[in-house]
This record gives sequence, C-alpha cells and structure tokens, in this order.
Amino acid sequence: MGVWPPVVLAPMAGITNAPFRVLCREQGGGLFVCEMITTRALVERNPKTLRMVRFAESESPRSIQLYGVDPDTVGRAARMIAEEDLADHIDLNFGCPVPKVTRRGGGSALPYKRHLLRRILRAAVANAGSLPVTMKMRKGIDDDHLTYLDAGRIAAEEGVAAIALHARTAKQHYGGVADWSAIARLKEAVPEIPVLGNGDIWCADDALRMVAETGCDGVVVGRGCLGRPWLFRDLANAFDGSAERARPTLGEVAAMMARHAEGLVECFDVERYAVADFRKHVGWYLKGFAVGGELRRELASAESLDQLREGLARLDHDQPWPPNTDTPRGKSGERGKVQLPDGWLDDPWDGAVPDDAESDTSGG
Ligand SMILES: Cc1cc2nc3c(=O)[nH]c(=O)nc-3n(C[C@H](O)[C@H](O)[C@H](O)COP(=O)(O)O)c2cc1C
Repeated sequence: MGVWPPVVLAPMAGITNAPFRVLCREQGGGLFVCEMITTRALVERNPKTLRMVRFAESESPRSIQLYGVDPDTVGRAARMIAEEDLADHIDLNFGCPVPKVTRRGGGSALPYKRHLLRRILRAAVANAGSLPVTMKMRKGIDDDHLTYLDAGRIAAEEGVAAIALHARTAKQHYGGVADWSAIARLKEAVPEIPVLGNGDIWCADDALRMVAETGCDGVVVGRGCLGRPWLFRDLANAFDGSAERARPTLGEVAAMMARHAEGLVECFDVERYAVADFRKHVGWYLKGFAVGGELRRELASAESLDQLREGLARLDHDQPWPPNTDTPRGKSGERGKVQLPDGWLDDPWDGAVPDDAESDTSGG
C-alpha cells in the first residue's frame, strides 16, 4: 500500500479524532484514519461533520473514512473530498455491526447486496480523482452469510486500492477470536491488490504473526492502541526487525494522558466536554499499573484540566510499565441476532438503496 511501516490505525468512532491520531503518529509511521464520517452529513455540510474532518497540520497523509449506502451520495462525498482537498485517502466502511446501522442495511449488512456494493465502490472510485479509495469490511453477516470473498473480488474489479478485513462476522461483534485464516483466504482470492488484516492485534509481535500466518500486506490496529499510542512505535520497530519495545513508566504515561486531554480541549473548544470525553481513556492508560481505586475514580471523573492534572501528579511516576499489558482492551462480546431490514437476505442481487440508512449513525 506504499506506506511503511505497513500499519493503519483503525478508524474508531469517538476515539480516532485528531488529538489521538497525532499522539499515535508521533510514535511511528503508518496511516491514521479519522472517525467514520456519514456521507450525507458531509455533502450537506453539517457543521459537526465538518469539524470531524479537520486534521492537525502535522497529519500527512490524511485519511477519511466514509459511511454511506447511496452510490450517488457516496460519489458526491468523494468528489467533495477530492475537489476541496479534505484528505489524501478515502476509506469506505462496510464493517459497522451496530444494530441501528445494520437494521437499515448499512455497514456490515451492505456487502450482502453485491450490486449495491459494486455501485457504491464504482461511484467512490470514479469521483475520488487521484485519491486512493480503500474499503474495510467484515467476513459477512454470520457464518451462513459470508460475503468477504465476493466483496473482495468486486472491490478489486472496481479499482479499490486496498481491502481491510476485520476477520469477524457482524454477528460476532467484538466477541470470540478473530479468524485470521479468512485474511489468508482473501489474500488468495484477490492477489492483485493489497489486503490488510484486522482483528486482535494486541502487541507488535501479533502484527508480525498475522503477516506471517496470512500473507497480508499490512495490519490495521484498533483496540490494542487504546491508552497506548506507544504501540505504533513498537509496530515500527517490529516491522524494521528491531526487538525494542516501548516500556513507558507511569510518569511517562501520565504525561501522555495530560497531552491527550489538552489536545481534546483544543479540539472540542469546551474544556468540560473534552475532559468528560477523556474519561473513557483513563482506564486504558492505567491498565496494569498499581493505582488505587480512589485515585482512578478521581481521574475518571475529573471535570477540568486542572483537576485531571492534579490527579495525574499524585500517581507514582517511577512505577515501571507493568507486565501482561499485551492483552485485550476495549469493547468485547458477541451480540445475538444481527438486526437487518425485513427480507434483506432474500435476494443478494437486489440493488435497491435502503431508505433512511444514513440518519443517526456514529461508527462502530
Ligand atoms: C470504539 C470503537 C469504534 C469503532 N468505530 C469504527 C468505525 O467508525 N469504523 C470502522 O470501520 N470500524 C470501527 N471500529 C472497528 C475497528 O476499526 C476494528 O475493525 C475493530 O476494533 C477490530 O480491530 P481490533 O481487534 O484491532 O480492535 C470501531 C471499534 C471500536 C472498538
């Protein structure tokens, strides 16, 4: 994919905003994808959406992930990004398993409709000018309705520049273990374009193992880097053949936490909202460190930067990086049945655009 190291920060709604991307990118190279952007909101110039596609000056190349179900709207969004120089790369989301998205035929439900998928990809590629268009998908809806091999071939035919596979079905949500063998099968099915493997990379050595086991051309890292931007340094080292791994002390972690929160304040403008948004990161940053329950709670309920800084100052700054931190973090767990529009599975070749699938969506 022309990027070294062959590493992508997975788009994560509510997480991969500019402040977090900047901290990750400082650690090592790769592509650092923004939060999912709804195509309709983008073309309608929704003010919140326009704020979400802002990049820091230091960010290059800039990657936007789009979510859309209507080929026309996706095409217009791609054209807008190209003409207004909003990004250098467009990724399309066909992996979101959130019920309010799949219930309307979007995200991970969409590749089941082969014609519609093809039309969306065609519209994106045709309108993106010289910008590369990639797609990110799951294995399928469930084990009885796998779509990734068909979707991969369609993407290759439509001129998509790379395909990322999160090796779970929508039904699996974030549960169980990602099935890396599917990444190998996709690579065999579309040898002509880069395949990026995704799912359950918790440390740099997992990434090397995924490449070795599947033959994928690069890796996409999501939850493993929550509270851990240093993972991108480890990944750069690992792909360069170095065994060196970042082992920040709790003091260094505290400094990173402060910078992350400060970045959010700048990005959100309103300190109170930014500090509230930072709360979800606290547990991830402190994972494995010995920190008393009361101080943890104070940090995770701070209402201002000053309160947060005061709590961070009380951490034991000399405490070394704890062992056993290369384990799962973030969302987990399976869902019951995948919610789909009525009759969705009846006809994989029906190309109709689902109604109202772009309202009220926020990643996943
Ligand atoms: C909080 C959260 C938000 C996510 N938002 C998106 C999203 O907006 N677009 C997308 O394609 N995937 C999204 N994902 C899925 C991740 O990009 C990734 O595919 C998934 O977490 C599996 O990779 P991992 O095992 O490295 O975490 C999200 C995941 C999490 C945990």
